[in-house]
Amino acid sequence: MVETNTNWRSELDDPEAFRAFAHEAVDLAADYLAALPERPVFQRMPPQARMNLLEAPLPETGLTAGTLLDRFQSEVMPYPMGNGHPRFFGWVNSPPTAIGIVAELLAATMSPSCAGGDHAAIYLERATVRWLMELMGFPTEGSMGILVSGGSMASLTGLATARQWASHRDGWNVRDDGACGGAQMTLYVSSETHTTVIKAAELLGIGNRQVRIIPTGADFRMDVAALETAVIADRNADYRPFAVVGSAGTVATGAIDPLDDIADLCADHNLWFHVDAAYGGPGVLDARVAHLYSGMDRADSLAIDPHKWLSVPVECGCVFVRDGTLLRQTFSLVPPYVQVEEGKGIGGLPWYAEYGFQQSRGFRAL
Ligand SMILES: Cc1ncc(COP(=O)(O)O)c(C=O)c1O
Repeated sequence: MVETNTNWRSELDDPEAFRAFAHEAVDLAADYLAALPERPVFQRMPPQARMNLLEAPLPETGLTAGTLLDRFQSEVMPYPMGNGHPRFFGWVNSPPTAIGIVAELLAATMSPSCAGGDHAAIYLERATVRWLMELMGFPTEGSMGILVSGGSMASLTGLATARQWASHRDGWNVRDDGACGGAQMTLYVSSETHTTVIKAAELLGIGNRQVRIIPTGADFRMDVAALETAVIADRNADYRPFAVVGSAGTVATGAIDPLDDIADLCADHNLWFHVDAAYGGPGVLDARVAHLYSGMDRADSLAIDPHKWLSVPVECGCVFVRDGTLLRQTFSLVPPYVQVEEGKGIGGLPWYAEYGFQQSRGFRAL
């Protein structure tokens, strides 16, 4: 029987009730994880089970926590995506981990907004991003990074910064004038680059016709000679080549572009170098293949996805920008009187909301 809860207060406001309920939920999670290997990797949902969720009516009264847990157990939990299974090789999605599950619970227990402020989650994010930079060999001095929803948002953030940088170098400001305020920008990716980078270019007003798809060799790595030919041709045609995206692990084959050569070319041609290491970045920690990543540390911006190879629960991506002031220049939109400078005025760290698109932000660092 479905029990309803008509009390405006949650029955779980009572600490003992909360404790008992949470224990029940943890037992459910533990049993689920233990039984996963015995299940098929994936099962299609029976049509009725799909409809039950799709067409569930808006309840007129609240349900009790116990009823919600029962319904979760019978209507949701039996139909996972499959990525928790030891034999799941479908995509790059990592399986749930016990520590990640508990971290989500504890982060929600505090539920801060990491827009900014003087609270622990902010300092933990700074440390977490610095750790990620150190792991990836990215310079920490003068750089800045921010946790985002995933690789898509990380590349969008990096390329937005690149676009801002390019307009400044050319004596105008894309934030004031919009994407058509200067010469039409062109972006360079390889035929193996993840489509989310192209989506980012579309959103930034570059337009996918101005995304140059550079061929790869038989090893699926970007052909840098072809890249240079394309950059020169565009410059001669009065376009503004502004950024190159190198992949540190493509999703289809795991190929790592010749990052050092691309970094050299970017330096020679006044281009921003963005590395999409969302999927393969952590491979640099394996001494047997670390040499393949040479040049990744020369990126102007880099996208990495803790929710892939690092087994952090979805969603958690991260972007690093080598010149942290550029990231702030790209996203800060607060009146000067609330801008925070370290060691001045009310002090504290500048707000994360000045370094990315989001204002309210979750406690991803935990
Ligand atoms: C190489 C690469 N870049 C970017 C992405 C997009 O990342 P996200 O799904 O976290 O937005 C993926 C996702 O598979 C990827 O493999």
